[in-house]
Amino acid sequence: MKRIGILTGGGDAPGLNAVIRAAVKTAINEYKCEVIGIRDGYDGFLDPKNGIIPLGMEEVSGILPRGGTILGAANRGNPYARKVVRDGKEVTIDVSDEIVKGIKEQGLDALLVLGGDGTLHIAHELALKGVPIIGVPKTIDNDIGGTEITFGFDTALNIATDALDRLHTTAESHHRAMVIELMGRDAGFITLNAGISGGADVILIPEIPFKFESIMKKIRARNEQGRKFSLLAVSEGAKLAGGVQVYSRKGDEVYVPRLGGIGQVVAEYIEGQGFESRVTVLGHLQRGGTPTAFDRWLATRYGAAAVRLAARKGFDRMVALQCGEITDLPLDKAVSAPKRVNPQGDAVITARNIGISFGDE
Ligand code: F6P
Repeated sequence: MKRIGILTGGGDAPGLNAVIRAAVKTAINEYKCEVIGIRDGYDGFLDPKNGIIPLGMEEVSGILPRGGTILGAANRGNPYARKVVRDGKEVTIDVSDEIVKGIKEQGLDALLVLGGDGTLHIAHELALKGVPIIGVPKTIDNDIGGTEITFGFDTALNIATDALDRLHTTAESHHRAMVIELMGRDAGFITLNAGISGGADVILIPEIPFKFESIMKKIRARNEQGRKFSLLAVSEGAKLAGGVQVYSRKGDEVYVPRLGGIGQVVAEYIEGQGFESRVTVLGHLQRGGTPTAFDRWLATRYGAAAVRLAARKGFDRMVALQCGEITDLPLDKAVSAPKRVNPQGDAVITARNIGISFGDE
């Protein structure tokens, strides 16, 4: 193994730099291997002069606690669907062959792709075209199959829990229903875990459709017990039973739909029932800033393991955490079934045991 590349695709997540640092150090220390970084996801291959940078000990020094990614990310970087303007008209084109050509020109023995569901799907497609790909599971949503946890999730969970703690005191002072809308797309892990850790009274997640009346039952019951405030953790992907998710922007063949707005819908309903309510949308604060110790630790293990896997030529595979140990599995298996909260799992049962409402009873 003489030369490997690293890219970070999709939205950023805390811990990306920790993976890059561990991969570079392992490649140099253990394999005397040269490492290059590809800027802005797969796009860097289209413009190698600006898009490819050397990654040595110097470049990765000091980046362990830094959020974001030193390589840049592009969540419109799907090579199979790229919007360009041709003859004054916007059209969607497939640039995957150009990207494969660009990758081959770099003479890489392996390409480490740090990404979520979309980026890893593309990685598998490129592997089928002969690119020696290794996947590393990144996302605050924790929704990638085949691994117990993705890096970035723990940091988002801690930020969301801190936000709930802060809302708790002001909710109590003002006797209000405080709604916090959290990220996660179609997976409710951030909301469920932060809701439990931050003492929410109601948790709404995409996996358990809710009814307004059930939420009100909980708020009224608390009110009657003299608990004149309530805390509601609402996943951006939560939906009414028989209803649909709320989007702030529609999707198309290039952009995935942008979720957002359900928190406001819930808060307005509660207010309409005579309970003063406020909504906080935590948004990208969940993705920014320094990773937790857990995420640095996990990201470092993933980065080193990805390089070891590359040395074994374990291509078209993804590193993963299973039973607390790092392992790897075929990429297509990992991305074939996204991970979701199990409504019958112990976390949901525990939440119900301690009186949390999921708005479904
Ligand atoms: O997948 C990570 C995530 O933060 C989701 O939780 C959220 O829905 C989405 O990305 C936001 O994407 P963007 O950064 O494009 O607004």
